[in-house]
Amino acid sequence: MDGFRVGADGFELDGRPVRLLSGALHYFRVHEEQWRHRLAMLRALGLNCVETYVPWNLHEPGPGDYRDVEALGRFLDAVREAGLWAIVRPGPYICAEWENGGLPHWLTGVVGARARTRDEEYLGHVGRWFRRLLREVVPRQHGGPGGGPVIMVQVENEYGSYGSDRVYLAHLADLLRAAGVRVPLFTSDGPEDHMLSGGSLPGVLATVNFGSGARAAFAKLREHRPSGPLMCMEFWCGWFDHWGAEHVVRDAGDAAAALAEILECGASVNLYMAHGGTNFAGWAGANRGGGALHDGALEPDVTSYDYDAPIDEHGRPTAKFEAFRDVLARYAPGPLPEPPAPLPVLGAPVSAALADWAPLDAVLDRLGTPEAEHAVPPTFEELDVDRGLVRYALTVPGPRGPCPLSVRGLRDRAVVYVDGERAGVLTEDEPVLGVPVAGHARVELWVESLGRVNYGPRLGEPKGIEGGVLHERQYLHGVRARGLRLDAFDVAPAVREIPGGGQGRGRPGLYRGALSVRGAGDAALELPGFTRGFVWVNGFNLGRYWSVGPQRSLYVPGPVLREGENEVWVLELEEGGERVALR
Ligand code: GLA
Repeated sequence: MDGFRVGADGFELDGRPVRLLSGALHYFRVHEEQWRHRLAMLRALGLNCVETYVPWNLHEPGPGDYRDVEALGRFLDAVREAGLWAIVRPGPYICAEWENGGLPHWLTGVVGARARTRDEEYLGHVGRWFRRLLREVVPRQHGGPGGGPVIMVQVENEYGSYGSDRVYLAHLADLLRAAGVRVPLFTSDGPEDHMLSGGSLPGVLATVNFGSGARAAFAKLREHRPSGPLMCMEFWCGWFDHWGAEHVVRDAGDAAAALAEILECGASVNLYMAHGGTNFAGWAGANRGGGALHDGALEPDVTSYDYDAPIDEHGRPTAKFEAFRDVLARYAPGPLPEPPAPLPVLGAPVSAALADWAPLDAVLDRLGTPEAEHAVPPTFEELDVDRGLVRYALTVPGPRGPCPLSVRGLRDRAVVYVDGERAGVLTEDEPVLGVPVAGHARVELWVESLGRVNYGPRLGEPKGIEGGVLHERQYLHGVRARGLRLDAFDVAPAVREIPGGGQGRGRPGLYRGALSVRGAGDAALELPGFTRGFVWVNGFNLGRYWSVGPQRSLYVPGPVLREGENEVWVLELEEGGERVALR
């Protein structure tokens, strides 16, 4: 029988048993001109399938404002040309160390904890989004008239780790079917009873996610599903990093042994990640630490999503690539293809002074949202700011003596100015300014989001100031607020017109300069002396940098660079440096 099917003991493709050797590669974390190279690397690794999520918030930044949803279709076409099958995981929630787990800020700002439930308002938006996004998927299904690569589609994502609304899950499955998805649906969850029972659906394939212990994990799955294919939908062969924490690595031999165990069980696998890529443009998410509740301190994810994957962030094979290839080759129908020729790398290192500088106020004047006065500080959501920052300006009335100034419900970080002088940095954990403030005083708080939570019960929490600004115990009312969205920088000409104030000399603001490149190709950008902010090269946002590490440089995809002059902008939020270097 034609098509891809879930059989009693395994998967079947066009009537023959098949084992899925899949690898995750998120099209939105790889520069489009590099997709083909990366897909060829997956083939050379010994994979026959690629898996991708779809980030709703990237494609619908405002209600009904769809942006390049076609990218998913173009990616699936590239997958087909590469001779791979495709697994699509459309969410609507995707986790994935991605801002807000992929949910739009304009939606979670309104529905709050009703997200990921049967709530009508939430589901109304999901339905509309799915009908748009599935137009890219439905014509590209295997077995359909178009003969496309898509063989399976996931329902939600690890729903059993979050909620127990089976009505919601079943509704999503119905939605997928009604929109024309004919290939098998599946769910994926941790190998634990409450996760599997909370996240799976009768009649829909259940898969499990883990990093080791395949035999035990599949035994648990079998308690819930006595027959059907076994699949590890996320084999965590590496892991991600948080700002200010240790870089995480997983030994290649240990990971290869865990992979071998999965395959010895007769199971299919999806390497999470085969190639991680990069959280360009500030799309990295965040966790909450603090044990099982995931309710503790914010742990923002770094820009690199290298993931210690077999194919590194620059698209190069690692020791893990070789170790996995040896394992996967045992299950291949014939000899594995050789890796493709490496893509060009930068001809020679180059550095440049960022001689031009404009103060943050000037940037906000040109690119910010309109300023308005509010009784209490509005959240980022109320100002329609997803990634970026907000300047809150208010007055401490006077005359009055010095008292502590503090912020309730601060997320995530505020650089505070009193009468134009920098007075300190506040965070959620240290919300009281070190120096008391006397009235009358003008106070400015430049509040920055470090990335929205993508996992656990605090998914969807607002950014900005949720409580208020206090002087002693008195709320300070009457707050002028103005937001700066990162996508405001997409309008390059407006950025060029921002009046430059000469050299920044360490101050926050927008720094500008040019790098003169000979031999454009893959590179890494370093920003010695800069503290924290975002950097653009030729208008392409490379993502957040932060001197706390562990990430020390930002990946620059070769196609972003050109021969000769390359324009660099650095939006520094604390203390600037002087030069940037490409190597
Ligand atoms: C879970 C999620 C993924 C990802 C991994 C950790 O399994 O389903 O989206 O967040 O954890 O990398």
